[in-house]
Amino acid sequence: MSAAHSVITIDGPAASGKSSIARLVAQRLGRTYVNTGNMYRAMTWAVLQAGVNPQDADAVRAAAADIVFESPVVEGKTEVCVSGRTPTEAELNSDPVNRAVSFIASVDEVRDRLVAEQRALAAIGPLVMEGRDIGSVVFPESPHKIYVDASEEVRASRRGAQGRADQIAERDRIDKQRKNSPLVIPAGAIVIDNSHITLDQAVDQVIAALQLS
Ligand code: CDP
Ligand code: CDP
Repeated sequence: MSAAHSVITIDGPAASGKSSIARLVAQRLGRTYVNTGNMYRAMTWAVLQAGVNPQDADAVRAAAADIVFESPVVEGKTEVCVSGRTPTEAELNSDPVNRAVSFIASVDEVRDRLVAEQRALAAIGPLVMEGRDIGSVVFPESPHKIYVDASEEVRASRRGAQGRADQIAERDRIDKQRKNSPLVIPAGAIVIDNSHITLDQAVDQVIAALQLS
C-alpha cells in the first residue's frame, strides 16, 4: 500500500462541519488530523502581516516566497508555523483573514507550495486530511474520500453560533469558481449531508461509509 492510500480525505464548503468531523474521525481511528484550511489561513495571516494587498497576486506571490512554512505534529494533529510563529486560533479565524483567504488560496504558487507540504505529510503515518481539494487534487488516488455538506442556512447559523463573523457565501463562490483546484465533489467521494444530524451522528456515518476493515 502506498502512503497516499492511508489518507482519508474530507472536503466540503465553509462551515459544513469538516473540521469537527475530521478531528473526531481521526481520534476514533488513531490517525493524525490535518486541517489544510489552517495552512491557507496561516499563509494569509503572514501575507497580511507583511502589509500586502491580498488581491494583488504578484505582491502575494513575492511575499509568500519569503515565508518559511512548517507543519509540526502536536498531540495528534498538525499545527501551522509561519516563519517561526504559530498564529493563534483567533488570528487564523480573524475577520481580515476570512476576507482575504480565498484570494490568497487562488494564487497558483501558494497552492503548489501547500499541496507539496500536504503530500509530504503522508509520510508521517495514516492521516485524516480535510479541506477543499484533498480528494480531487492532493490525494485523488485515495480510496477513502468523503464530501461533507450542509444547507447554506444551517452552515450560516452554525458559524454564527460559534460567534464568528464570516462571509461564507462569498468564500464558497470564489472557492468554487477559481480555475486552480476549485471546490468540487471529488470523483468517488461519498457525500454526507449533515444539516439535520448531530456531530456524533455525522462521525458515525463517516466511519460507517468508509467501510474500513
Ligand atoms: O473552516 P472553513 O470551512 O470556514 O474554512 P477553511 O477550511 O479554514 O478554509 C479557509 C479557506 O482556505 C477556504 O475558503 C479556501 O479559500 C482555502 N482552502 C483551499 O483553497 N484549499 C484547501 N484545501 C483548504 C482551504
Ligand atoms: O470546518 P468547517 O468550517 O466545515 O466546520 P466546523 O468548524 O467543523 O463546524 C462548524 C460548527 O458546526 C461547529 O461549532 C460544529 O460543532 C458545529 N456542527 C454541528 O453543530 N453539527 C454538526 N453535525 C456538524 C457541525
